[in-house]
Amino acid sequence: MPDSSAAEQARLDPDTAEPAIRPAPAPASLARFLALDDFEPVARRRLPRMIYGYVAGAVETGAAYANALAGYGDYALIPRTLQDVSRRRQDCELFGQRYAAPFGVPPLGGSAMVAYRGDLALADAAQAMGVPMILSAASLMPADATRARETGCDGIIVSSHGGRQLDHAIAPIRVLPEMVAAAGPMTVMIDGGIRRGTDVLKALALGAKFVFVGRPFLYAAHVGGAPAVLHAMRLLSSEIHRDMALMGLRSLAELGPDAVRRAA
Ligand SMILES: Cc1cc2nc3c(=O)[nH]c(=O)nc-3n(C[C@H](O)[C@H](O)[C@H](O)COP(=O)(O)O)c2cc1C
Repeated sequence: MPDSSAAEQARLDPDTAEPAIRPAPAPASLARFLALDDFEPVARRRLPRMIYGYVAGAVETGAAYANALAGYGDYALIPRTLQDVSRRRQDCELFGQRYAAPFGVPPLGGSAMVAYRGDLALADAAQAMGVPMILSAASLMPADATRARETGCDGIIVSSHGGRQLDHAIAPIRVLPEMVAAAGPMTVMIDGGIRRGTDVLKALALGAKFVFVGRPFLYAAHVGGAPAVLHAMRLLSSEIHRDMALMGLRSLAELGPDAVRRAA
């Protein structure tokens, strides 16, 4: 959704644009939601059990979903000081379009069961934020990267479908460097278990160009429709903005493998 006002601002005013960082204040009812994980308990209380289970659920033992979340703990970020980070920007180009932030909404089937006109709530928020939303996609794992490249794909999403297909599937973040190496010129994106700005920066440092966030945006849609999803997006964007300062980054293009280490 490149024509949104935030993306437009980033395009028109590249030296000063910090589009996601100067939001209108969130409605008072959303002020207590301070991080993406804050939406889940409210959605759990309010949603019919079956529908909450559909969103929160993962396949079989839940190991693939647990892997996806835990994988981010394998990596540690390197702080950098003594850099002028007074002007930071997180706008990001993907397939020739500039977006206000390096994250978007992945394909989420059944969102209309979770929130009133849930798919429209997600789309409206994505448009207001200036980030993309995917309606349908194919996601691949390591062996598939080479095949995708041979087939002429422009990009791949490293994904274990939020732990909803093959149980015990490897965490996307753990396999990301391998996928980036196999991808050649293809654009590599990732999703699964991304909940904080630090997760986004780890993924980008390891070679992803863009990330997608699933369940938290759906829970936000249930909590308060498009305004709540937009609030969630702004929370994530603010975290990225803050973390960039602490890592001495002025733009996401400065992120590379030297910004992360294996934590253990
Ligand atoms: C309720 C729900 C429905 C989903 N439906 C689809 C779908 O229709 N097609 C698809 O490719 N992925 C689907 N996914 C997977 C997401 O696109 C994405 O890979 C996943 O949500 C990312 O993990 P996260 O929820 O931990 O952020 C769905 C995920 C959830 C939670």
